[in-house]
Amino acid sequence: MTIAAIGDLHVTENNIAPYHELFLEIAQSADVLLLCGDLTNFGRTREAEILAEDIRACPIPVLGVLGNHDYECGQPEKIAEILHDAGMTVLDEQAVEIDGVGFAGVKGFIGGFGRGELAPFGEPEIKAFVDVAVNEARKLENGLRSLRTDRAVAVLHYSPVVQTLEGEPIEIFQYLGSQRLADAIDRFDNVKAVVHGHAHHGSYEGRTLRGTPVYNCAQFVLREKFGRPYALIEV
Ligand SMILES: [Fe+2]
Ligand SMILES: [Fe+2]
Repeated sequence: MTIAAIGDLHVTENNIAPYHELFLEIAQSADVLLLCGDLTNFGRTREAEILAEDIRACPIPVLGVLGNHDYECGQPEKIAEILHDAGMTVLDEQAVEIDGVGFAGVKGFIGGFGRGELAPFGEPEIKAFVDVAVNEARKLENGLRSLRTDRAVAVLHYSPVVQTLEGEPIEIFQYLGSQRLADAIDRFDNVKAVVHGHAHHGSYEGRTLRGTPVYNCAQFVLREKFGRPYALIEV
């Protein structure tokens, strides 16, 4: 199966069919289209409706997750509903199977990596914050565990590894992802690829500790690497 992935679409209210042509182009070379979050610029209803039209016209299945920008107006459920009504499968704990390949996904969260991972210690505010990261990883693990396929793909917005952040300022790495997501992925041997977005200035390829390939599909990273804003990955 060939999957196409693109993240950080950042649709704004004055865009006119911004992804219509691109989705049609992608459908000629891919079987499934994965959207890696930041689908809207500010999480506004109108922005989601504009993208929904392009999703409706896309001839291949569209799956994906929301990003932090889709939360900005405090109505991520509404954004998810508009995109779902247009035919997109919004992954969040609930995994799906298409032609023998499983797809699980969550937005993910921040919190850092390795030695720099924020621990749930001390003030209740820190514990509540870490809880969010732990819960996103738990949902991803549950989704992956529910799949019975030989091949699975994990879809995220935040990064599970540091390699795909290379190019961003090192001071903000801990705000771009969470190692806990990679820990969840590494419990399974059927995950063939992980796609994420969010790190607009990061690098395309990395690996989890177990060796599972991770791709930063933020469209800005892909444009620079491939001269087109989407990745094509065989699984
Ligand atoms: Fe973004
Ligand atoms: Fe983001």
